[in-house]
Amino acid sequence: MSALAVATGSVNLGQGFPDADGPPSVIAAAVEALRGGRNQYAPGPGVPALRQAVARHQHRHYGLDLDPDSQVVVTTGCTEAVAAALLGLVDPGDEVVVLEPYYDSYVAMLQMVGAVRRPVTLRAPDFRLDPAELRAAVTDRTRFVLLNSPHNPTGTVLTSAELSAVADVALEHDLVVITDEVYEHLTFDGHAHVPLATLPGMAERTLTLSSAGKSYSFTGWKVGWATGPPALVSAVLAAKQWLTFTSGSPLQPAVARALDDEPDFPRTLAADLQQRRDLLCAGLTKAGLTPRVPEGTYFATTDVAHLGWEDAHTFCLALPERAGVVAIPAQVFYDDADAGRHLVRWAFCKDASVIEDGVRRLAESDLTR
Ligand SMILES: Cc1ncc(COP(=O)(O)O)c(C=O)c1O
Repeated sequence: MSALAVATGSVNLGQGFPDADGPPSVIAAAVEALRGGRNQYAPGPGVPALRQAVARHQHRHYGLDLDPDSQVVVTTGCTEAVAAALLGLVDPGDEVVVLEPYYDSYVAMLQMVGAVRRPVTLRAPDFRLDPAELRAAVTDRTRFVLLNSPHNPTGTVLTSAELSAVADVALEHDLVVITDEVYEHLTFDGHAHVPLATLPGMAERTLTLSSAGKSYSFTGWKVGWATGPPALVSAVLAAKQWLTFTSGSPLQPAVARALDDEPDFPRTLAADLQQRRDLLCAGLTKAGLTPRVPEGTYFATTDVAHLGWEDAHTFCLALPERAGVVAIPAQVFYDDADAGRHLVRWAFCKDASVIEDGVRRLAESDLTR
């Protein structure tokens, strides 16, 4: 869809990357590291300064106590953390309960490890987690839950009650939970992100994944991490050894500086992003595409069935020509094609001027089939 946006000169409200970079002081720290000879392999688990900064971050925000040497591993973005977690922990045939719609790398990696995915669908229009559906997805072959909150693409931030339902099921069935928290700081309207690892009994069975990409607007740096009990973290490290081994030597100390010295950046970013969310949601509503207002992340979702489209894929393919805008058909994130057939994902992590241009184009176009 990004290629289509370039080819057609459309406003790209599809792919989720910000138009503005993160803090200049962090870029300066990366330059300093590049010039200062930090250009050879970093240690496999990550540079100590970053592992320590991640441990401090988890303590400062969530009260979690982690040993930086045995409970933190640095990865090539959260994407590698997901891959290494699944490769390191899941055996072929294991069932993994996973929230649907999925972040796309989950499906690919679950297929690569030979896992059986057991979806629990967050259903339109409110995209809440139904504890009964969660329970029904668990069988005697289930070993893991793969969670994502704040959730891409729906923008749902799981509530304490929803997280408690996950914890109850995990404790009852002796499951390990792998939780992708890349949007941990990008929540709105007071919807606070609560890491599953903070719930009673869950620190022992939760592998938490995150990265600097979203929190600090450095999506291209691909510096992420996994934290949790030593046994789970060492499984990630064992798989990662044969994926990248290590990456981003000069970027790792810079991200350590971000976490330690720019602790307020993500909060400021979230406040700013909330305004851009409002801009997009108001513009979509004006164009006849009333969205579900997201509680977090970069994305809002709308339904296009009432405009006469048989599916959102056809709508998104027609959109560049109709309106000069690109968006993503959400059905690509579903196994249950019916649940996602008419849904479109729109990104608001763009400059306000880009969003304004996009929604103006939508309002001026005929979007009916
Ligand atoms: C839910 C989710 N997990 C993981 C990632 C990838 O994170 P990273 O860029 O740190 O690899 C993304 C990026 O879009 C995401 O939305």
